Amino acid sequence: MELSETFHALGDPTRLRILRLVAAARLNVTEVVSLIGVAQSSASHHLAKLKGLELIREERVGGFTYYSLAVDATDARWPLIRLARESEDVHGDQARLTELLRRREDRHTLNEKLLEPGQSWLLWASALASLLPKLEVADFGCGSGVLTQELSGWARHVTAIDKSPQALEQAKARLSRERRTNVTFVEADLHDLPTGLPKHDLVVISQSLHHVSDPAAVLTQAAQLLKPGGRLVVMELLPHTETWVKARLGHQHLGFEPALLESALSAAGFTDVTITPTPRDGSSPFRAFLLTATRPARPSKRPAKEARA
Ligand SMILES: C[S@@+](CC[C@H](N)C(=O)[O-])C[C@H]1O[C@@H](n2cnc3c(N)ncnc32)[C@H](O)[C@@H]1O
Repeated sequence: MELSETFHALGDPTRLRILRLVAAARLNVTEVVSLIGVAQSSASHHLAKLKGLELIREERVGGFTYYSLAVDATDARWPLIRLARESEDVHGDQARLTELLRRREDRHTLNEKLLEPGQSWLLWASALASLLPKLEVADFGCGSGVLTQELSGWARHVTAIDKSPQALEQAKARLSRERRTNVTFVEADLHDLPTGLPKHDLVVISQSLHHVSDPAAVLTQAAQLLKPGGRLVVMELLPHTETWVKARLGHQHLGFEPALLESALSAAGFTDVTITPTPRDGSSPFRAFLLTATRPARPSKRPAKEARA
């Protein structure tokens, strides 16, 4: 290949960024688009140009076309590639690539857990849920309603609560698309629920507790919304150090030490607390746990002061 042609082609800053990324990891065009932030047509054009110069090669893997570096140290253009790789990463491409590779590994780990083609843990969860009695369920911090939809598949009725009007709109659209008629939406702050809500058999708090300022107050609200003998299920994160989730995702807590939640639950009047950490998910820094608790049919005889200790 003509050296001057390669110099000319790499004079384009976007093409140079793509070459650096593809030199670091085998990527498909969708991944390149998400990393660079250009239109798919533009990414395809740059990849075709790099391939035409035999700087990168393409191969089909699992139905996708992947691109990787095609030159090595024996190629006359290698010093140019080295320069490109070592130049300053002003756009933060490398950090985004690291995150993308981590998510890819997580997905891979998850797929490995599938038992047979066509089977999934979601399917198993639905099968088991179909055995449950028809419960009145409250979904605390329902967000866009993904879990609400699952709950509404087997519950008698779901009260989906969120403080965000936008999230509730998305949840309503989702549930209406699925023709679910057993869901009531409530716009409210979980710290201060409206009086007059009916009592429920089950409160589910999935990935919402780390968003609230006072988790203990929210657990108290959960206890008050439950019938005697009602159950609580919390899906949460174990303590982690990913501080970026505060600014980017609005988390207020970097996960929870289960023992701390346990004492907040006890103060709120819950008993029979069980805590089950989930297995690690690939190299994800997040690890979830599942917590269940019961609001006793009869209030505990212990004085309130002792319960709070
Ligand atoms: C990460 S989403 C969880 C969505 C859903 N539960 C799930 O597991 O897919 C957290 C939700 O909690 C809601 N939220 C946060 N703080 C809240 C509060 N104080 N009162 C009510 N909703 C709150 C947010 O608006 C957001 O929709």
